[in-house]
Amino acid sequence: MSDFLVARLRRKYRDGQPIHSITAYDYFTALLAAEAEMDFVLVGDSLSNVMQGHGTTVPVSLDEMIYHTRIVARHFPAQRVVIDMPFGSFKADTQETVRNCVRAFKESGCGAVKFEGANESNIEATRILTEMGVPVLAHLGLLPQQVNSEGGYRMQGKTEKAAKELLRQAKAMQEAGAFAVILECVVPEAAEMIKRELKIPTIGIGCGNVTSGQIIVVHDILGMLPGKAPSFAKRYAELYGTAIEAVKQYRDEVGSREFPELGTDNAVPEQKEVLPAEHTPDRPAYLRS
Ligand code: KIV
Repeated sequence: MSDFLVARLRRKYRDGQPIHSITAYDYFTALLAAEAEMDFVLVGDSLSNVMQGHGTTVPVSLDEMIYHTRIVARHFPAQRVVIDMPFGSFKADTQETVRNCVRAFKESGCGAVKFEGANESNIEATRILTEMGVPVLAHLGLLPQQVNSEGGYRMQGKTEKAAKELLRQAKAMQEAGAFAVILECVVPEAAEMIKRELKIPTIGIGCGNVTSGQIIVVHDILGMLPGKAPSFAKRYAELYGTAIEAVKQYRDEVGSREFPELGTDNAVPEQKEVLPAEHTPDRPAYLRS
């Protein structure tokens, strides 16, 4: 299957195969995505929440997004890495949006850019970027960067008028050249209607099982952080609890002098040489075929 994102998604969409994606922010999460052979990864501005510990996506900077995307693009096929444009780097001015997206695309080495919303400036920027050869992934519905003005995170497209407005925006982004649309927290009836009316894939998060594919924040499905994940994120693991237990066990074993264990490899004095860490898999799954 093509390693170029747009071609891969077109093929899966044409064949009616669900598209799967998670977010990735660093070496660890990029490896997870590579081993699980995700269609693409998004270096989401959710980085602000799950990697930096902020309460919203607003604080993360463009430089920080580029830094993390560069790391991800070294460990997951770079053409299928999408960078999320952070708050303030787009939307207000078309030329500035284009300049920032081109910079993010070139400096991070990723394969596409994503930005929230479909105002006139975003639509025009999508047209220019697509013509230049920078693939654009649209993001409609709940726009987390607007949480301060919206006053919370709410389901979108609940009335006929709201659903029609979302469809209008989605069509405008499609017309401008967007290769797919992320729909976030759009009620399933509206998400399904938008999917039916578009000729490009819809990737859902919190929209139910009606879109052409799904995307999710990796921390939410792996239980990597304390506190509640959004209700739509199924927990496939509880890594935070497991890690806490492991670190506490280490603390206790240092306290009781059980660690290091004499006669085993972790007891340095008995080893002939200290081996460096080997964290890099020989060949990640996506390179093996
Ligand atoms: O930043 C993010 O994680 C997103 C979601 C759509 C996954 O934009």
